Amino acid sequence: MAKKLWGGRFEKITDPLVEEFNKSIHYDKILARWDIIGSMIHVKILERAKYLTAQEALSLDNELRVISESIANNTFITDDKCEDIHTNIQNALQDKLGETALKLHMARSRNDQVVFATKLYCKSSITKINVDITNLSAAIVDLVARNDIIIPGFTHMQHAQPVYLKDYLGAYSKMLLRDYERLVYISKNMKITMGSGALAGTPINSSEYNINLEEILKEPRFKDFKEVFIIEPTSNSLDSVSDRDFVIEIISALSIVAMHLSRLAEDLIIWSTKEFDFIEIDEAFCTGSSLMPQKKNPDVLELVRGYAGRLCGNLVSVLTMMKGLPLTYNKDMQLDKEPLFGSFEIISKELKVLAGLIKTLEFNKEKIDEHLKDESLYATDIVYYLVKNGEAFKNAHTIVGELVKYSIDNHIAIKEIPEDILKEKFSDKFVKAEIIKLFDPRVSVESKESIKR
Ligand code: ARG
Repeated sequence: MAKKLWGGRFEKITDPLVEEFNKSIHYDKILARWDIIGSMIHVKILERAKYLTAQEALSLDNELRVISESIANNTFITDDKCEDIHTNIQNALQDKLGETALKLHMARSRNDQVVFATKLYCKSSITKINVDITNLSAAIVDLVARNDIIIPGFTHMQHAQPVYLKDYLGAYSKMLLRDYERLVYISKNMKITMGSGALAGTPINSSEYNINLEEILKEPRFKDFKEVFIIEPTSNSLDSVSDRDFVIEIISALSIVAMHLSRLAEDLIIWSTKEFDFIEIDEAFCTGSSLMPQKKNPDVLELVRGYAGRLCGNLVSVLTMMKGLPLTYNKDMQLDKEPLFGSFEIISKELKVLAGLIKTLEFNKEKIDEHLKDESLYATDIVYYLVKNGEAFKNAHTIVGELVKYSIDNHIAIKEIPEDILKEKFSDKFVKAEIIKLFDPRVSVESKESIKR
């Protein structure tokens, strides 16, 4: 029977079904290294508050470092019958140090511990995700630098106006930059507090909980923390143990990342179809069909699109789980972990695989040029031409609308319509030699001067 952190008031042993149902160790083991940091700090606090002798504090600190090493080397074995990671680490200490380890839980509760460890996990994971975001952005920048081309732009998925590829994909870089900054903001706002106990605070003076982690975080094993943060005494212990806003904010920010990546995936899926044929996705990033031998499918992109649903679901699951909870800690809150950890894991994989796919993407420039021959892409440029020559915008819009209709009804390209018809039927402002110049993608994109580059 695994040792519990509670049990004194119980006469009966826990039903095995309850053991199984209650535990979180199978997913919260990921918090091990963060829980250890909390324990190391707690040892210092207990020593300063005279609940531990210097000798006891030293042996606890040494043993915590040993466990920390084994966690770093993946040799720390968790007992999956033990309720959670906090219990596992406490039991590992007890096995080594006996009585001394029993003093460690003075003035703390797993309710406080779990928030502390989860916040540190979040800060570290945000740093890593932001590296992945930066790498994907860099892959996009490289791709457009290698492909200085113009493509049709769309609204309502209909040909709209020509745009630079660098602007089209640059829009995704802008989204990724906002994602990066949103996560940095959330991380900075996330206050790491101690001293809540179970809910009501502890008998230790708040000044003992003012701790600068700078020294601890200088150690190589904490290198994934870019930001040095401080630990503060809680200013409201009830809020500290029952706040999961940070979890909701992070999953929300990650859901936005997922939504952006899903849109990128969708664009690339459309571009890779026979009908569009704008791009060739590298075979290393495609899969085949068990039945149709010709197939080269964009499964990776479809999964990126599909996982966006999982992320939104994760967000809704935590919001819904929290909305009816009275203060303070309730066991429901244990269920924030899988959506949180799962969201980080999915986004990290998506960002990495998309960076690989983008790096190897090829553009079918000839096909794109074919699409750019569609005259409708330049209709707005003809409107601007008329406006520049003195026509009111609304009239110019109507004239060009009629011109487009004439072209469709009479199966004649606008470029082929004789100048006298253009003048007679549509506008005397039309000069054919000038109109013809407008059907050029580069002329079209370069005439757009509003964009600050
Ligand atoms: N495993 C728990 C969680 O993730 C830790 C806190 C448990 N506290 C308690 N009083 N049962 O939320």
